[in-house]
Amino acid sequence: MKQESILILDFGGQYSQLIARRVRDDHVYCTILPWHTPLEKIRDAHVQGIILTGGPNSVYAEHAPCCDAELLSLGIPVLGICYGAQLMTVLSGGTVIRSQQPEYGSVPIHLNKESRLFSGLPEDTICWMSHTDQIQSLPAGFQVTAQTQNCPIAAMENSRRNLFALQFHPEVLHTREGKTILHHFLYAICGCSGTWKMDTFVQQSIDKIRSQIRSGRVLCALSGGVDSSVAAAMVHQAVGDQLTCIFVDHGFLRKGEGDAVEQLFRDKFDMNLVRVNAQKRFLDAISGISDSETKRKRIGELFIRIFEEEAGRIGSVDYLVQGTIYPDVVESGSGDAAVIKSHHNVAGLPEKINFRAIIEPLRDLFKDEVRQAGIELGLPRQMVWRQPFPGPGLAIRIMGDVTEEKLRIISEADAIFRDEIDKAGLAQDINQYFAVLTGVRSVGVMGDERTYDHVIALRGVTTTDFMTADWARIPYDTLAGISERIINEVRHVNRIVYDITTKPPATIEWE
Ligand code: XMP
Repeated sequence: MKQESILILDFGGQYSQLIARRVRDDHVYCTILPWHTPLEKIRDAHVQGIILTGGPNSVYAEHAPCCDAELLSLGIPVLGICYGAQLMTVLSGGTVIRSQQPEYGSVPIHLNKESRLFSGLPEDTICWMSHTDQIQSLPAGFQVTAQTQNCPIAAMENSRRNLFALQFHPEVLHTREGKTILHHFLYAICGCSGTWKMDTFVQQSIDKIRSQIRSGRVLCALSGGVDSSVAAAMVHQAVGDQLTCIFVDHGFLRKGEGDAVEQLFRDKFDMNLVRVNAQKRFLDAISGISDSETKRKRIGELFIRIFEEEAGRIGSVDYLVQGTIYPDVVESGSGDAAVIKSHHNVAGLPEKINFRAIIEPLRDLFKDEVRQAGIELGLPRQMVWRQPFPGPGLAIRIMGDVTEEKLRIISEADAIFRDEIDKAGLAQDINQYFAVLTGVRSVGVMGDERTYDHVIALRGVTTTDFMTADWARIPYDTLAGISERIINEVRHVNRIVYDITTKPPATIEWE
């Protein structure tokens, strides 16, 4: 039986993926397609409902993204949000104008409780607005279902045709009843029953992978990061020993991390794991290099080369596992959203390995769903919830050229920082935190001696998407404890500073 599903048609809005996550959180599967997807493809998808997202344009602008008006006559319920609401208006014969007073932020709103979308909700509540245009006149057959002080048509609907439009954003948490409004759309209007559950998904994926691979041999590059670990664990449950994981330890991992990866996958999961201790080769490859992009490039290239060498030793393989996740798929497919790539994976695709096909078991999942899948598969909580760590690792947290001595300093300082944050119970509140070897030396005094040693910077950020970030307000006492320990325990460090810059203008990493 075909999985029930909602289609999100993306008009380039900043919240499109957030809408999808809210729908999935409510146990309904959904996919995001670009606004220019042909009508036939949409019709053939047999979805339960369609959501038109917001977008940065004005509906009357030249080349404004549009969809076929027929979309509203397929007999499938449609919910237009912000730009999507304005588009629904224009396609149905109403008009849109530039608002006299654009609304941005939390705004009081009055809801008409007769609307099925708002059933059971308080009549007066708060919604999140972000618009410069608004609906001016209703299309025939539509009724106003909500208004704010400056927006007389903050929601409208043609209930008979199951067409609904919201000027505000139900997916944003500031819209107090947003979750319930989306829930009503999915369940009361589209008739969904809530079949999207992680345990079922994991089991079905394992079955699918097993029947695809049969007796073939599978290879996976394991980095110890969340995505590759969950992908490997899933394929391992499907085909056991037919899977070999190659873990290339480049020596730029955090203290103790290489051993932890090995222990988890080889000992606990009993996987075929090849650990390649290539620390020296990597260090040689970037010896004397100060430019961060060159470091990244050299590390990435060597990573692939070593992976290919090891794969060659294993012999022929049929499949290669990749930890691609849904945001990668959407970002590479939609084409017109202003996407800033926030990560640059170490490994591209190896060219010297012959394989029949790529297996991407996480292609349909958002990051938080990948974590849930990891828990279902029995991976430890701290591994599934770990903070992001860049592929080139500590090599880009040492400003300038990398040496063994500098690696020792940074990995020890970083371990102390993490330990103290754990002890202070702050690990869940700071989304990423690490130490940086600044490349600056400063004068200090220890005992009666003058010192001239390294300056370490601590960086801690709070963020939801890693594209913008604020610096974490770590309590002074915790910072004091970290500073004291690093100075006392790590040789050749005589000064600690805390980075208090937001992103933008700074990035999260220093290089
Ligand atoms: P920036 O420094 O660009 O970082 O604000 C945003 C996020 O991306 C991570 N990052 C990387 N990840 N390879 C990676 O796999 C890299 O070269 C790299 N550079 C930055 C960074 O840790 C943060 O989470």
